[in-house]
Amino acid sequence: MAGDVRLVPVDDKTLEPLLSVAAAEAEPDDVMPPVDAPAGWSHARREAFREFHRASYDGLEGPTGTVMYAILLGGEVVGMIRLARRPEPGVAETGMWLGRSFRGQGVGVAALRELLTEAAGLGMRTVVAETTPDNSGAIGVLTKCGATLSATGDTVRAEISLDLVPRER
Ligand SMILES: CC(C)(COP(=O)(O)OP(=O)(O)OC[C@H]1O[C@@H](n2cnc3c(N)ncnc32)[C@H](O)[C@@H]1OP(=O)(O)O)[C@@H](O)C(=O)NCCC(=O)NCCS
Repeated sequence: MAGDVRLVPVDDKTLEPLLSVAAAEAEPDDVMPPVDAPAGWSHARREAFREFHRASYDGLEGPTGTVMYAILLGGEVVGMIRLARRPEPGVAETGMWLGRSFRGQGVGVAALRELLTEAAGLGMRTVVAETTPDNSGAIGVLTKCGATLSATGDTVRAEISLDLVPRER
């Protein structure tokens, strides 16, 4: 099932399906920065979700230096994974989320592998991520994709070297 995972940059076509999955199957804190709005998926939070993603429509060369990819499973939008430039040359950062009903089936690993291939093709040499020690799902995905982990307090830092990832598809 997880074999049919593809990434497409979030655009006007995928933004509303992405918001639908987020609102139905994810917590706001897992999918967007905090905003000053009533709890839950209020109108204001939905609008902030749209603005947050539109701000990165220009991708790595745009003002946020970030490309947000909708994760497609069998053609259906099921979550998001991002690639963001870091100040250090050749280094990018990632983070991801899936709708609850799509977790625990290998989709996270498949999506991160796609992202690593994409990052290598863009000339990146290292992809880093941060999570918390209690996030077994994120730690499992990062470990399976070859990350080296280091923990400091409540933060787990992951580093993936792209030297072994193919540079062309
Ligand atoms: C983190 C997340 C993207 C993981 O994706 P996923 O598709 O559920 O993960 P996978 O099914 O590919 O799992 C990969 C490995 O992680 C581990 N794992 C996954 N979910 C786990 C869980 N809930 N508890 C323990 N281990 C887990 C397993 O080792 C698994 O390997 P296995 O299937 O061979 O046993 C997903 O759980 C999610 O969206 N969580 C909410 C948002 C979030 O926390 N994002 C990360 C922020 S840093």
